[in-house]
Amino acid sequence: MPHAKWFIGGRLNVSENCLDRHLGTARENKAAIIFEGEPGDVRTITYKQLHFHVCRLAHVFENMGIQAGDRIAIYMPMVPEAVIAMLACARIGAVHTVVFGGFSPEALKDRINDCKARLVITADGGWRRGKIVELKAAVDKALENTPTVHSVLVLRRCGNPVQMKEGRDIWWHEAWEGAPNQHKAKAFDSEHPLFILYTSGSTGKPKGVLHTSAGYLLGCKMSAHYVFDIKDSDLYWCTADIGWITGHSYVVYGLMSNGATMLIYEGAPNHPQPDRFWRMVDRHGVTILYTAPTAIRAFMRWGDNYVLRHRLDSLRLLGSVGEPINPEAWMWYHTMIGKKRCPIVDTWWQTETGAIMITPLPGVTPLKPGSGTQPFFGVVPKVVDDQGKEVPRGSGGKLIITKPWPSMLRTLWGDDERYKKQYWSEFAGVYFTGDGARQDKDGYFWIVGRIDDVLNVSGHRIGTAEVESALVSHSSVAEAAAVGRPDELKGQALVCFVTLKAGIEASDKLKEELRSHVAHEIGALARPDYIRFASGLPKTRSGKIMRRILKEIATGGEIKGDTSTLEDFSVVASLQSDEE
Ligand code: WTA
Repeated sequence: MPHAKWFIGGRLNVSENCLDRHLGTARENKAAIIFEGEPGDVRTITYKQLHFHVCRLAHVFENMGIQAGDRIAIYMPMVPEAVIAMLACARIGAVHTVVFGGFSPEALKDRINDCKARLVITADGGWRRGKIVELKAAVDKALENTPTVHSVLVLRRCGNPVQMKEGRDIWWHEAWEGAPNQHKAKAFDSEHPLFILYTSGSTGKPKGVLHTSAGYLLGCKMSAHYVFDIKDSDLYWCTADIGWITGHSYVVYGLMSNGATMLIYEGAPNHPQPDRFWRMVDRHGVTILYTAPTAIRAFMRWGDNYVLRHRLDSLRLLGSVGEPINPEAWMWYHTMIGKKRCPIVDTWWQTETGAIMITPLPGVTPLKPGSGTQPFFGVVPKVVDDQGKEVPRGSGGKLIITKPWPSMLRTLWGDDERYKKQYWSEFAGVYFTGDGARQDKDGYFWIVGRIDDVLNVSGHRIGTAEVESALVSHSSVAEAAAVGRPDELKGQALVCFVTLKAGIEASDKLKEELRSHVAHEIGALARPDYIRFASGLPKTRSGKIMRRILKEIATGGEIKGDTSTLEDFSVVASLQSDEE
């Protein structure tokens, strides 16, 4: 540690392990993907067909001059071609970086520039709540300042008009016209980079988490096999977008390497009605459903009637990921969706861990609502105090992983110093997760949530530093601090304290403008829930903003703990008297 390696000297092709290995077996003509678009269009793609698609796209990449190790950015709706693009990258050893379609052009540009992508793959648009999300237009904006990109491959999905730039932009269907449907996969080193996925950290810009090939594939293949108990007869549905790690590991790599059949859905859970998911479970016969607590809480709020209209009798296993699941939501999921028949696997893991780390095994581990229960094979987590000493059972502390594991991140792209500092410096020689946790008397793990300056809003990681830098980039803002406050629906809500520049008038209109500004800079997922104007922010004498105090103010609670390091207590007093 921190630079552990696996299967040194071994070679493999990850796409071959997801596709070719099923050819010539009974899985060859089995559905790999059943896709439902938001408008209701359905397509089924078998393993053999998927293999053809991936081979053809691999040829397209090679004809464009893309080589092993080159980076390709994927900014697409949740359609099968997004999966095809990822696997075609893997096939030729190119490194993909998938950027969630909800991120702004600005955020896309930063990611492209950080990894110096040569090619961008996108679509004209994607369907979301009956409207077209104009992805190609966003790419055009992002590419105004991306010197490394020489081509853009554009999928026609919605048929909305787009501008194609001569010499740079190519339609997917034109590019692969005539490309052969067989492609000999080359083997790459076990530690060959597979993908970079950007995620929020506690400081600065998002960091590019780098995953490599053999160890990563092993981690997600083995965990998918045991945690989801995948059988050839299953129809597995993970509702995550491939823009997140859950989509990488538990839509694409972990499931395809197991030869599973999966459902992919393009759109919103409440379109045209809040029963869309349940309609789809019955329409296709979903047996395993893997989703996030935020979605479960939204369904609870929309009301049981939307669920009770459907049978849901095909389901046999439920999963939860992305944030702590509160026992109330767990019970609702168990009774209303699972009809008390389906185990729930509450899986704790991170972009950095690549695969599930703490989880029950269905039918094996006795469950406790709200607990991820026990570590997966080979994972050795501990809960420790600030000195790195293990705390007694029942006490809270910091969650660490004491041994390397095959699917762990290898570094942060282009910034190994930050990698070492971020994960391996809190306690010497062990991985620090950034999460707080406790172990109960039975040794079960209970994750409390992030204890660093990262928020988890609706299961999406947002760095307070990113939001703050977006706010201060607005011409009216002098200073800003972002904190989380518990929220029934979203898990955490984003509260921002803003000090305006001299002479700028505070107003509701400006609040709105600042919220939109952040959404414009980062993406709608980072739009602040509340903005509070303040004449000053609580700081230490050395000028550091005391977020702990702001958190307490945002939660409406009393200021507990030490305030002696505060430079000026009157700032806090005025913030408290000025409740919304
Ligand atoms: C949180 C998502 C409690 C946690 C796979 C972690 C969870 C962060 C759980 C990683 C869970 C994820 N119970 N908390 N089952 N799953 N988290 O990188 O705070 O998007 O550190 O990976 O989500 O988020 P990320």
